[in-house]
Amino acid sequence: MDADARGPAGPLINVAEQVISVPGPMINVFDYEAQSRERLTRMASEYIASGAGDEITLRRNRECFDRMLLQPRVLVDVSRLDTSVELYGEKLEFPVLLAPCAYQKLFHEEGEMEAARGAAATGAPYVVSTFASTAAERIAEVPDASLWFQLYVHPDHGFTEELIQRVEQSGYRALCVTVDTPMLGIRDREKRAGFHLPEGIERENLKPLGTGATKAGHFDKGKKYSILDPAITWKTIEWIRSRTKMPVLLKGVLSAEDAARAAAEGIEGLIVSNHGARNLDTVPATIEALPRITDAVEGRMPVLLDGGIRRGTDVLKALACGARAVLIGRPYLWGLAVGGAAGIQHVMEMLRAEMRAAMMLCGTTSLGEIDQKVLWAKDAPARQGRREPRA
Ligand code: FNR
Ligand code: LAC
Repeated sequence: MDADARGPAGPLINVAEQVISVPGPMINVFDYEAQSRERLTRMASEYIASGAGDEITLRRNRECFDRMLLQPRVLVDVSRLDTSVELYGEKLEFPVLLAPCAYQKLFHEEGEMEAARGAAATGAPYVVSTFASTAAERIAEVPDASLWFQLYVHPDHGFTEELIQRVEQSGYRALCVTVDTPMLGIRDREKRAGFHLPEGIERENLKPLGTGATKAGHFDKGKKYSILDPAITWKTIEWIRSRTKMPVLLKGVLSAEDAARAAAEGIEGLIVSNHGARNLDTVPATIEALPRITDAVEGRMPVLLDGGIRRGTDVLKALACGARAVLIGRPYLWGLAVGGAAGIQHVMEMLRAEMRAAMMLCGTTSLGEIDQKVLWAKDAPARQGRREPRA
């Protein structure tokens, strides 16, 4: 990021040997949210913030984490902590990944390249969006980044197949097929902010399809192009799996029936997600859906979760309810907007420090030990805090 893009000069904070200029101390993720608003255009920050409809689920994603109570434990030797987890043959030092988020050149001039640098610096897998504003092959040139790809199935399945081959050949390690988006949600906030793709920002991965696909608006209706195939079914997933060696995860599952079917079909993983509450309003928070899903899956595949993770305690709560790992969306976009790769690194460091503190204070020393016993009430995360714990 060049000096002019940094906004008002302020004290320099040192983030893992890099320096970001910010007007005040950046203590937690919410400080990055506030600061990102100072630096982004209104359209870009409203695009990040936007939830669907009345944003009831958007608030609920946070409220449910806030309501869940933890059970601290004492006199456990927590002098050594292991926060590592293995996912698809890769050892991660920390169970947090970067969720796929579109059009990152809206948030930083180097967009996805800078995000991949941040991911590499922090060791977290970065799930690149089909709607990235940088081509998947270019992002793969960033040294040491562990990349996964998020697939939106285009109605032209020949193109979709080529895209899968392109990312597989570029070294992407896993394919997350977003299954909760036959259409994008109704987002009043996004509409009010006049969301559009400015000059120079396109869906670079869709280039072979022409500008109808690379520049199409989110709310263009009745045009002959459509960038999302609303006709995908379980058969489409079977076809995708036959076309790649990458593990295939379904992103955007909330129903236990869908999860059971995915497990029965031998799908390699699930991401319990409500798309950051951006698609269908008044669905449950993801942490409410998670226990039903882990019950249905019965350990047959890793279950990940995203939506509303803002604190290390949220990570602990998701793991306690059976998630193998979690993803963050908005928090790293705020980091990217404020400090580029260093901002992402700092956001991840803050979450790590908070997660380590939560683990120690709950008397756990490795992720394998984290289960319902770190929760004050042992069932139904959504109801916690509203009634007495069971005896
Ligand atoms: C998203 N998300 C998303 N998901 C996806 O599958 N493909 C995409 O291109 C995008 N794009 C996108 C853009 C922006 C600005 C946001 C905020 C989100 C959803 C994302 O992957 C993830 O599910 C949520 O962001 C997780 O919730 P939190 O962490 O943002 O609360
Ligand atoms: C979004 C899309 C592009 O949530 O997935 O904005």
